[in-house]
Amino acid sequence: MVATIILSALALSGMAHAHIAAFAKGMYCENGTDPKNPNFNSNAPVNPLFNLTLEEMWFQRERGCDRVPPPEGVFLDIPAGGSFTVELANNQAFSHLSYDGKFTSQWPDGADHPADFNGGGVGEGCIQEAGYMHVQDEQHAQGTAFAISYQSDLNEVNLENLVVFSVLEHTPWHREATYKVPKALPACPTGGCTCAWLWVPRGCGQPNIYMQGFKCKVSGATSTTPLAKAQAPAQCDEDSSKCVSGAKQMIVWNQLTGNNVVTKDRQTPAYNLRNGFKPGAQDDIFAGAPAAPVSSATTSTTSSAAVEITSSPSAVTRIPSVTTSRPALTSDASQAVPTTFSTTVKDQSPATVTVTVTAPAACS
Ligand SMILES: *[C@@H]1O[C@H](CO)[C@@H](O)[C@H](O)[C@H]1NC(C)=O
Ligand SMILES: *[C@@H]1O[C@H](CO)[C@@H](O)[C@H](O)[C@H]1NC(C)=O
Repeated sequence: MVATIILSALALSGMAHAHIAAFAKGMYCENGTDPKNPNFNSNAPVNPLFNLTLEEMWFQRERGCDRVPPPEGVFLDIPAGGSFTVELANNQAFSHLSYDGKFTSQWPDGADHPADFNGGGVGEGCIQEAGYMHVQDEQHAQGTAFAISYQSDLNEVNLENLVVFSVLEHTPWHREATYKVPKALPACPTGGCTCAWLWVPRGCGQPNIYMQGFKCKVSGATSTTPLAKAQAPAQCDEDSSKCVSGAKQMIVWNQLTGNNVVTKDRQTPAYNLRNGFKPGAQDDIFAGAPAAPVSSATTSTTSSAAVEITSSPSAVTRIPSVTTSRPALTSDASQAVPTTFSTTVKDQSPATVTVTVTAPAACS
């Protein structure tokens, strides 16, 4: 029964026209475009955006997904300094949002493929049996991204307040995709933030872009410094001086209006170094240094960190960063054992203390 339904859904969508979306709780268009008739084989959010006005493409308005938010109180959790996982699939049926994940595989299409899945170099070399990936092989997958806006109301989100905060290189590829989150992302307003999953394929088909909406919330925030105004991500792979540093916009390309990047010849823009996006958490997107929430009338704050070195004797361990709630003290110190330290900051402004511990050869 279920298999028949999936088969007919796939037959309808047709493999050649299938594409990819990120499936997770908090997404717009879960169960399709009509909440009254839930569709567990929905491919509504997977279809690409091409030659549309900015208003039409914005959060998939042209297919109505912007009007199908998640239920009240459901958000995609974005843990500050951590990571979150979504499922990249070409149909909701191949994610855990449908059928308890019964039809999932390691891949976005619920099927099995070899580890070195590739197009065999025929023609442009594109993978034919998984055309939804628009790519030759994993190395050519040119990256997907997540952006966040601190506006709860989708109608208030615009190119300048929607900031790319995480980039995952060489995706889409496997179904599970894990995105790293900047440590300094501030908390969202009560109504949550608005997030977008983003992708520009390298080629292998119509030169489209992808943008898909989520209601999201940042957990474990330790900073209140807002995000900077996003700027268009200029192509800069041939001249790094043209790279835009800091907060960057999503890529709008090959649309009727709103295009914000220009590429050379037939090149596609990308969520990778070609357009100045480093892989991983985008830690340079803030309007200033991290700032702790204002606490009531305290004059001193103590923060401590216990560091355990479990690596081999000659290894070098780097402790990412310890953020106390009172910066101003910014130090970068190298120290050998002892491996436990604590910092007491008696100052009015927030501090980020980065300690690099180098375990000497004698240390066991
Ligand atoms: C884009 O849309 C415009 C207006 O609808 C149309 O005239 C044009 O042919 C389209 N371009 C492509 C490449 O489809
Ligand atoms: C989608 O359908 C499932 C199964 O009925 C349900 O649990 C879930 O809440 C639905 N999602 C939305 C957004 O309505």
